[in-house]
Amino acid sequence: QVGIRINPSILAADFVNMQAELARIATADFVHVDVMDNHFVPNLTFGSQMVERIQATSPVPLDVHLMITNPDRWAPGYAELGAASVTFHLEAAKEPVALARRLREIGARAGVAVKPATPVDGLFDLLDDFDQILVMTVEPGFGGQSFMPETMPKLRRLADEARRRGSSVWLQVDGGIGESTIAQAAEAGADTFVAGSAVFGADDPANAITGLRASART
Ligand code: DX5
Ligand code: ZN
Repeated sequence: QVGIRINPSILAADFVNMQAELARIATADFVHVDVMDNHFVPNLTFGSQMVERIQATSPVPLDVHLMITNPDRWAPGYAELGAASVTFHLEAAKEPVALARRLREIGARAGVAVKPATPVDGLFDLLDDFDQILVMTVEPGFGGQSFMPETMPKLRRLADEARRRGSSVWLQVDGGIGESTIAQAAEAGADTFVAGSAVFGADDPANAITGLRASART
């Protein structure tokens, strides 16, 4: 691939030292911000007030991943506070295309995410409506889980379809991405990699980002 992006997930960061944690990933492409509502997923993180502070503090643009019900109602607010990209779950959205259009109008990249068991075939005709598609490589909700290789055929078909249609959509993977798994996701067609524990769990996050970038290119 030409463009490869490494987006550390602050879910694995120390929440009470957020400013210092953000400073450690200044060489990343985006910071991945996981919003969970304890309803769409069985975990709770934070909402727009916290994301607004992260936006004001982060050295890199924000890649917001909304694991919430009713994104039709809440996603535009994250675009309005300045997030570079806002990704909502296909399983949760009532009108995904209308919502994507709204996000773009506000000025954000529009993203749609699918859980490991959700088929992607319904997205083939919607590739132009989205700027990025997130194929979850774990069940959403928690960091530190194991990468699910069974999601790779789906990613590969999405990548083939995008290529066939001349689409420039970014294909993102999230969950269990690290030195031992990033190459297979890249080989299957991902170009944008979310990594939580592999980056924030490292002694030197900048070094971890460099290593992931290199491994994704091989
Ligand atoms: C999981 C989140 C991920 C999480 C990934 O629901 O969407 O972004 O932070 O964590 P790791 O990289 O540790 O699997
Ligand atoms: Zn995420």
